[in-house]
Amino acid sequence: MKAMKILGLLVVTSLLFSIATGCTPTPPAEATAVPTKAPAAEATPTEAPTAAGVEVPPAPGFPIKVAMLFPMSGDVKTYGESSKNAVEMAFDEARAAGWEIETVLGDTKCDAQEASNVGNKVISQDKVHYIIGAVCSSASIPISEIANAAHVVQISPTSTNPQVTINEDGSNKEYVFRACFLDPFQGKVNASFAINELGAKKAAVLYDVGNDYVKGLAEYYKAAFEDLGGEVPVFEAYTKDDTDFSALLTKVAEANVDVLFLPDYYNKVNVIAKQAKEKGITAIMQGGDGWDSPLLDLEAVDGGYFSNHYSPVDPRPIVQNFVANYTAKYGAAPDALAALAYDAARVLLQAISEAGVDDPAVVKDAMQNIKYEGVAGKIVFNENGDPQKTAAINHITNGKVEFVKFVAPAGAPTTEEEEKPSVAPAPGFPIKVAMLFPMSGDVKTYGESSKNAVEMAFDEARAA
Ligand code: PHE
Repeated sequence: MKAMKILGLLVVTSLLFSIATGCTPTPPAEATAVPTKAPAAEATPTEAPTAAGVEVPPAPGFPIKVAMLFPMSGDVKTYGESSKNAVEMAFDEARAAGWEIETVLGDTKCDAQEASNVGNKVISQDKVHYIIGAVCSSASIPISEIANAAHVVQISPTSTNPQVTINEDGSNKEYVFRACFLDPFQGKVNASFAINELGAKKAAVLYDVGNDYVKGLAEYYKAAFEDLGGEVPVFEAYTKDDTDFSALLTKVAEANVDVLFLPDYYNKVNVIAKQAKEKGITAIMQGGDGWDSPLLDLEAVDGGYFSNHYSPVDPRPIVQNFVANYTAKYGAAPDALAALAYDAARVLLQAISEAGVDDPAVVKDAMQNIKYEGVAGKIVFNENGDPQKTAAINHITNGKVEFVKFVAPAGAPTTEEEEKPSVAPAPGFPIKVAMLFPMSGDVKTYGESSKNAVEMAFDEARAA
């Protein structure tokens, strides 16, 4: 039964791949093993003109000027480094294909005030028509207000707070887009993983009250966790400058929770998680995309799980090409920030190419109608300029980040729902069914898979 469950999960995971990406997943060599190791090491850099092995959109015949607004210094500068590397990679590939691209780099420091200063500067002084950035939602939100008012096209690779693309009254910021999923989805993915897969009943949540991303994700997680029947006895705020979390962690320890959700960036998570471990807290830690950094303290968060935007073990060729080429160029595997920044840059180029004119008013319409197949999944924008994307869940174990599974966006069936299909009502009489499959001979793996899956469906029906 256990083996069947794993097989079922594998089938579902593969199916999710097809739903989420429109691609046929590479069949795994062993039907019983869920892939957890990166095939990246075996992949060789592609001969194709770009890192991802896909074509550059045709050069439009005029020069463009693009601002890259990322946290290049400060607490979370690994985010900025990855993002900048990946945009430059996409732009260098485009230049080799005839594009003329000038870039201006601005440092948002992941701070609202810095972001708004640098946003104003690139628009009024540098006169850019296009902005890629920011990373942090608290930086992207002020920039989006400036960009939208000035009719400059902005695409954030990684900012997940809903407020990035909509105004406070819920209306759309027409010039603003993003390449990633949103936090209501991310919160739900983590809450449902905790309840359905980790068997959690009680959660504690600690969050930075002054950070739009962290506060939002904390609230979405709590709402989803309670919706699914769980309890959140500890929901406590701290501020950016706090360094001693012992009072909050005492509450966590006393509440005897199953999971501890830490929706902050890696620098803060490192501090809180270390203090939690020192206090002897054994609750499983969980987090969001903010954990994605080479500087995450893997020992402090050992045993934890976090959601992310892509996985380097995704077998799609576009991912494996990108992983191999990016690693060859920068000496480290691309994190989700790199994957999404590469996608954001390419989406912008495609929109400009399709618009055929260096006019943000026309480019934003082209962007709105874009169909783009990227490293971190497909991009088709809804009315707010948000795509629907799949999340990856990772497990931290033995000093390594291991891929667990993909979860499809809201609307598409989730793995949880797929795992527990409802059985049609029993008719009240016995039935007899022949299974006719190739159980031996040249293609017997066909027969094994088919038989296993039919037996799985029938066992579920017998149980009902
Ligand atoms: N989603 C985060 C935010 O909105 C930024 C982030 C994305 C950080 C991906 C790390 C990885 O602020």
